[in-house]
Amino acid sequence: NYYAVLMAGGVGSRFWPVSTAQFPKQFHDMLGTGETLIQKTFSRLSQLIPEENILILTNEIYNDIVLQQLPQVKQEQVVLEPAMRNTAPCILYAALKIKKINPDAVMVVAPSDHWIEDEQAFISNLQQAFDYAQNEDVLMTLGIQPTFPNTGYGYIEYGTQDNNIIKKVFHFREKPDYETAKTFLQSGNFLWNAGIFIWSVKSVLHAFEKFQPGMYSLFESGYDEYNTPAEKSFIEENYPRSENISIDYAVMENAENVFVVPAAFDWNDLGTWGSLHDKLDKDANNNTVVNAKLFIENASNNIIRTDANKIVIVDGLNDYIIVDKENILLIYPKEKEQEIKKITEIVTKNS
Ligand code: GDD
Ligand code: MG
Repeated sequence: NYYAVLMAGGVGSRFWPVSTAQFPKQFHDMLGTGETLIQKTFSRLSQLIPEENILILTNEIYNDIVLQQLPQVKQEQVVLEPAMRNTAPCILYAALKIKKINPDAVMVVAPSDHWIEDEQAFISNLQQAFDYAQNEDVLMTLGIQPTFPNTGYGYIEYGTQDNNIIKKVFHFREKPDYETAKTFLQSGNFLWNAGIFIWSVKSVLHAFEKFQPGMYSLFESGYDEYNTPAEKSFIEENYPRSENISIDYAVMENAENVFVVPAAFDWNDLGTWGSLHDKLDKDANNNTVVNAKLFIENASNNIIRTDANKIVIVDGLNDYIIVDKENILLIYPKEKEQEIKKITEIVTKNS
């Protein structure tokens, strides 16, 4: 009764201009390994979850890309959203569909765009979480030891005196501001939320009913139609009516039965150019160059990428992101990389 929900409907806008709404980052081979991020995630999860129990939740415009990149997946495993409403509605919808197949199911919800090196350690943490979630009314997440005050993550406060492998969470705080993130880091009893959740279908539905009653009754009203031919028209009509909110704000910040498994694996969410830079090869001055011939002086800590092996000449530049793709050239300071999302929205609206 193990199920997985692979979330693959995000746009990855902080990775613009390589990641775009037409072809987001989860469908790219961002690390140059020969596999796209969603292919890597699928094969990682299938070490514990039967392939036929893995659902891919994505926007309807990505259906063909998913089927092409994951030929082992059947159309009925690809759940199509008619509108982008962030992760809470997508998880609620998937949980109701799974409940109808198997009311005793336990499920993992995973993003499709992360890097995890030690797959064995990941699978054993996942197994620990499944074992616990199977019998308890809990919402579980995997926690990463934080290294800097990243404002793009959720933070998990737990008791350091707690000697259990699985720790009770006191507070879950999504995307704090920089000053708050700094105090979290200093206090030493916070982990980053990896964005990978484990729970029984019963527990997560119970939490939605409690904290998002409107969304719950909207989606639950079509329950009889789920997994039947009538489902499509119900979803087309009702999914866009849902609030646009992530699971972190909608459920995790409110719940009191949250537990965390501190991760025994290295993790990177590949959320920004900087996090990708961390994972790629660098020269002696910490520059990464992808698809470009570089003539470089007095330059350090840059990530530079072109789409056609261009010659790039750089002098006196530090801590920048330079990405050249077709008719777009991005030159942006690394320290402001979280803002690329906003810039992208403005640029795409006006062009
Ligand atoms: N199906 C579907 N539909 N998937 C979506 C949607 C949607 O509308 N929106 C986002 N996703 C997918 C993304 O593709 C990604 O794989 C995952 O859901 C998480 O969304 P992000 O937009 O990347 O979230 P985030 O990075 O800002 O924050 C989350 O992840 C962090 C760790 O990477 C939160 O859970 C944070 O608490 C966490 O620290
Ligand atoms: Mg992310």
